Amino acid sequence: MSRIFINYRRQDTEAYVDRLYEHLAQHFKPEDIFMDVDSIKPGADFVQMLEDAVAGCDVFIAMIGPQWLAAQDSSGNRRLDQWDDFVRIEIASALKQSKLVIPVLVGQAKMPSPADLPEDIKLFARRNAIALSRQGFSHDVKKLADTIKDAIPSQPSFKMQAASEAVLLKETALKAVRNDLVNATTSPLYKFRVDNRLFPVLGEGNADANLLFIGEAPGKTETETGRPFCGPSGDVLDEMLRGINLEREDVFITNILLDRPPEQREPTPEELTFYTPFMDRIVDIIRPAVIATLGRFAMNYMLKKLDLPEKGGTITQLHGKLIKTKIHYGEIHVIPLYHPAVALHKPSEKEKLRKDFEKLKLFI
Ligand code: URA
Repeated sequence: MSRIFINYRRQDTEAYVDRLYEHLAQHFKPEDIFMDVDSIKPGADFVQMLEDAVAGCDVFIAMIGPQWLAAQDSSGNRRLDQWDDFVRIEIASALKQSKLVIPVLVGQAKMPSPADLPEDIKLFARRNAIALSRQGFSHDVKKLADTIKDAIPSQPSFKMQAASEAVLLKETALKAVRNDLVNATTSPLYKFRVDNRLFPVLGEGNADANLLFIGEAPGKTETETGRPFCGPSGDVLDEMLRGINLEREDVFITNILLDRPPEQREPTPEELTFYTPFMDRIVDIIRPAVIATLGRFAMNYMLKKLDLPEKGGTITQLHGKLIKTKIHYGEIHVIPLYHPAVALHKPSEKEKLRKDFEKLKLFI
């Protein structure tokens, strides 16, 4: 795994930093790219915290814009000359720790000369820089990504990683959830399940997946087999996954309800209340970087649970929108998608779904 730290001053590189992040996220796992040191608690040694954050990375990118050298604080003093300037502290720390430090020039900025730098970051001026141009941004970031990959071997991707102890733990934890589901005698759908000799459907896929799909509820075929999305909607989902070079084994697929409601009807509030704690456990175990909701029930639940400003929006407004947010284990993206069933008989809807799936390529 290579962890990338982006050091920047928003005032200087505002127009570029988010764009750089989005582009780098096409080459590396988004959760391995760090832009901000979060939550420095009152009383904490913030220099130590910044140094620890830098210590956790393999590659240190220092963004240099036109104001980098001259940026001033509100009293008119040059920021780089302040002992507590976080840009300076982080660069000094990366140099001290012999990290791979790559200056990235934007907005036609030039590398500073040693004479312009405080003592502890003078050596920074000797690092070879990469320039990102506005027109050739993608191409230039690819060059940067290749440099990083060459310097630090073995980039794990979305694809399944070797079964490690952590993965086995996740699989065991999922089995425990499955067990609780099988024995969920108080579920409003338990009687229907048992009377009709159906299986509950926990979900399937890679317990260590970075991408989690959440549908609505298993249908007839699914509850006869115990597997999610294995009927006609599943065929659409498989087609969409193949379109972005993914197999079902690369992702985890589940539903907001884990038993089939009678007569293909929509989930009731009571059923949602019963099953969503199972969903929360699945998310906690898998810890995906991206949650793709399929249809409005899963979308409404996730937006509300994460308390996102988009909650209350309709799927027509929100489909395909990548929503970046935080969850207790780190940063994630939520992307609402149409339910594959809507694409079954409407080519135009299928096209929309295909386009929205393309966005997931950012994370592959
Ligand atoms: N529709 C869903 O929402 N989930 C399934 O598993 C199958 C169809």
